[in-house]
Amino acid sequence: MKFMEPKVSFSEETLKLSEKIISHYPEGRQKSALIPILHLAQAEFGGWLSVEAMDYVAGLLKLKPIEIYEVATFYTMYNLKPTGKCVIEVCRTGPCWLMGAEKIIEHLEKKLGIKAGETTTDGKFTLKVTECLAACGNSPVIQIGEKYYVNMDVEKADNLIQNLNEGMRV
Ligand code: FES
Repeated sequence: MKFMEPKVSFSEETLKLSEKIISHYPEGRQKSALIPILHLAQAEFGGWLSVEAMDYVAGLLKLKPIEIYEVATFYTMYNLKPTGKCVIEVCRTGPCWLMGAEKIIEHLEKKLGIKAGETTTDGKFTLKVTECLAACGNSPVIQIGEKYYVNMDVEKADNLIQNLNEGMRV
């Protein structure tokens, strides 16, 4: 397979890290490294995966670009367009839904003036709905970056966003 010259590329440090991750898998099984490499790419390329970024990952793993698109579009943890500074992910799967996730989502949409999947015009917040975050025992759950906020309700979610907004410089 012949790849075109990539339009984006990892820094030397990230490239070394990706090679280390790929080396954990047997020759010919480099596709197994796709999930962590996509995380690296998302972090490296501004918090989202452009087509150029996904094509770069395809070249790195010697896969067809479509194999990268399939994975990147399946998982909600990958952003396929630029995001706000703070990405709020509200779980909406069964247990969270039963415990009021829908009300939280509706409230945040109103508070931020956007729909789920959108970013505020000031570039501060992106609101996403996501599938099970594996913390169902403490639902409803909101994820922001690597941090989980559990046992949420409308009031707690409102305070959380208020505090983030006050502490944020854009
Ligand atoms: S259903 Fe929300 S964390 Fe599992």
